[in-house]
Amino acid sequence: MTASFVIQSLAPEHDRLAFSCGVDALDRYLQNQASQDVRRHISNCFVASPVESAAIAGYYMLAAASVPVLDLPEAETKRLPRYPVLPTALIGRLAVDRQYRRRNLGGALLFDAIQRAARAEPAVFAMIVDAKDEDAAAFYQHFGFMPFANRPMSLFLPVATAMKLLKI
Ligand SMILES: CC(C)(COP(=O)(O)OP(=O)(O)OC[C@H]1O[C@@H](n2cnc3c(N)ncnc32)[C@H](O)[C@@H]1OP(=O)(O)O)[C@@H](O)C(=O)NCCC(=O)NCCS
Repeated sequence: MTASFVIQSLAPEHDRLAFSCGVDALDRYLQNQASQDVRRHISNCFVASPVESAAIAGYYMLAAASVPVLDLPEAETKRLPRYPVLPTALIGRLAVDRQYRRRNLGGALLFDAIQRAARAEPAVFAMIVDAKDEDAAAFYQHFGFMPFANRPMSLFLPVATAMKLLKI
């Protein structure tokens, strides 16, 4: 990850109000909803902060999910037993504050999410994301995520493939 940032769980001391990524819904979610979702075990929230600062430079949400095996391309599943669904980790939201863009922080947050999923005790077959628009989808595709055939704004990346690509 970028040397001057630390990624950790969202905590009360983090300055949620100052976060501004340019997408109101993502700013408001962090300010008003994220800690409630964490408390209710619906999703976890991880934030990147400059070292020794309470500022939030970027954040993402990570939750357990599943995907019907028939939604995945046969090439990804042909060597697997015929399970109806496969376990996944959902990156619900991911955003970087405008003043920290294009410093590899978005990539570092994605890398952190994949590492956590790869280490998780419940096994995770693939990472999945719902991109909010084509620009966001292009960001994920840049890192090897592939669109589902039947819903192109949802993308997946098998954890085994990610570990090879990212040399985890
Ligand atoms: C998308 C977003 C998270 C990218 O964050 P960032 O920190 O600026 O991105 P990075 O600096 O880590 O970029 C990493 C790589 O992705 C590429 N990239 C960044 N944004 C991209 C985009 N929209 N499309 C294609 N590639 C993109 C960069 O060129 C960089 O490539 P490189 O490693 O070859 O140089 C940020 O622009 C953002 O928060 N946008 C608003 C919210 C949003 O759209 N979230 C997406 C999920 S809903």
